[in-house]
Amino acid sequence: MSDNTSLLVGERDLSVVIPSYNEAENIPVLLDRLAAVLQHLDYEIIVVDDDSPDGTWQIVQAIGASDPRVRLIRRTAVKGLSSAVVAGLRESVGRCMVVMDADLQHDEQIIPAMYQRVIADQHDVCVGSREAEGGSYGTWSYSRRIVSAGARMLANLALGRLTRDPMSGFFALSHTYFDATVDKVNPQGFKILIEFLARGKNPKVCELGYEFGNRLHGQTKLNSSVAIDYLLALVDLRFGWFVPHQFVKFGLVGLLGSIINFLGFATVQGMGFSVTLAVLVGVELAIIWTYLGNNFFTFTPMTFRGRDLAIGFLHYQAVCCYGLVVQLAVVRLVLSEYPAMSNSLFTLYLTYLVAVVFAAVGNFFLHSYYTWNRNGYTMTRPVRSPRVASH
Ligand code: GDD
Ligand code: MN
Repeated sequence: MSDNTSLLVGERDLSVVIPSYNEAENIPVLLDRLAAVLQHLDYEIIVVDDDSPDGTWQIVQAIGASDPRVRLIRRTAVKGLSSAVVAGLRESVGRCMVVMDADLQHDEQIIPAMYQRVIADQHDVCVGSREAEGGSYGTWSYSRRIVSAGARMLANLALGRLTRDPMSGFFALSHTYFDATVDKVNPQGFKILIEFLARGKNPKVCELGYEFGNRLHGQTKLNSSVAIDYLLALVDLRFGWFVPHQFVKFGLVGLLGSIINFLGFATVQGMGFSVTLAVLVGVELAIIWTYLGNNFFTFTPMTFRGRDLAIGFLHYQAVCCYGLVVQLAVVRLVLSEYPAMSNSLFTLYLTYLVAVVFAAVGNFFLHSYYTWNRNGYTMTRPVRSPRVASH
């Protein structure tokens, strides 16, 4: 960390917080552009990188060595866009703080105007907006526009209209508003702007249009898992019900797994093999499916890739032995007590489902505390600090 950590809050005009993951080709270009556009401001740039394997953080470190305004926060134990943004904001000393992506999709040219809106016009939040005058989605496909419109509509329905572009990842906050809100914010998922808007007290909000750029290098880190996170976040914001995201996703993957499990079982049993062998085949198929499903869907962004994908599978398989024993025991117990349950496919599947549920609850805790938690990051506990009444 560089020498300006000793600065007090408010000692700079502007802090720009940039979350990055595998943006080695984009980040030097962005830092150059920022230096040009911010030259009249007393600013700092904080890049929060989650140990990108492509070396993004080394590049930032090298640039920071010759330019003290550029700082790097390298996180090795945690991953995640929103928590990276909050970590960077917490280190910021600027009276105005801007959050933007590292991939050149956010137009840095509007930052001086955002700064004016926050500092001179005393807005709490200024949203870089694709919906405001001068804003556009650039070359987005119709399908992506429709998904985005649906997400916006849900946010409006659940929370009232906070801004025309609640999904924006490009926005400015006043330091005062940040301080008053940050302890109530849930730093999970991709919707950090909504968190800041919805958990604050009547923020004074404005919008500035910009055209969303194309990603020239690298790829988006958003995936299907984000959709469920988003819905659960809206439920939490609207009703205050915190539903553990991972458990819902684990349940969905598991439900599909139980069908695969059962189909494998029914096929092998139908071919005349023993119940035990049939259970083993069904379970193994389900183990492979649920490992992949949970790795790429449930436990993102802790996803294993490359060599870790294989190592993770061995851990997963080992943990699943517990579930296997439980499932086998429950199926055999039910079928010996109630042999009629094997008379129809439907009752057989019900038996199976009961066994799977028994196995799944234990498996969930074992996987979240062990398989996807080998570097000490707990998945099941909400990361958010408790709601506080202060400020
Ligand atoms: N530190 C860190 N950790 N950074 C991350 C992570 C992570 O786990 N995941 C993504 N990032 C960084 C990326 O490197 C990029 O700079 C930025 O966060 C946004 O990620 P993208 O993968 O480019 O997201 P996107 O372009 O699909 O989504 C953007 O637009 C959405 C609205 O359309 C983001 O700005 C979203 O926040 C926004 O909702
Ligand atoms: Mn992007």
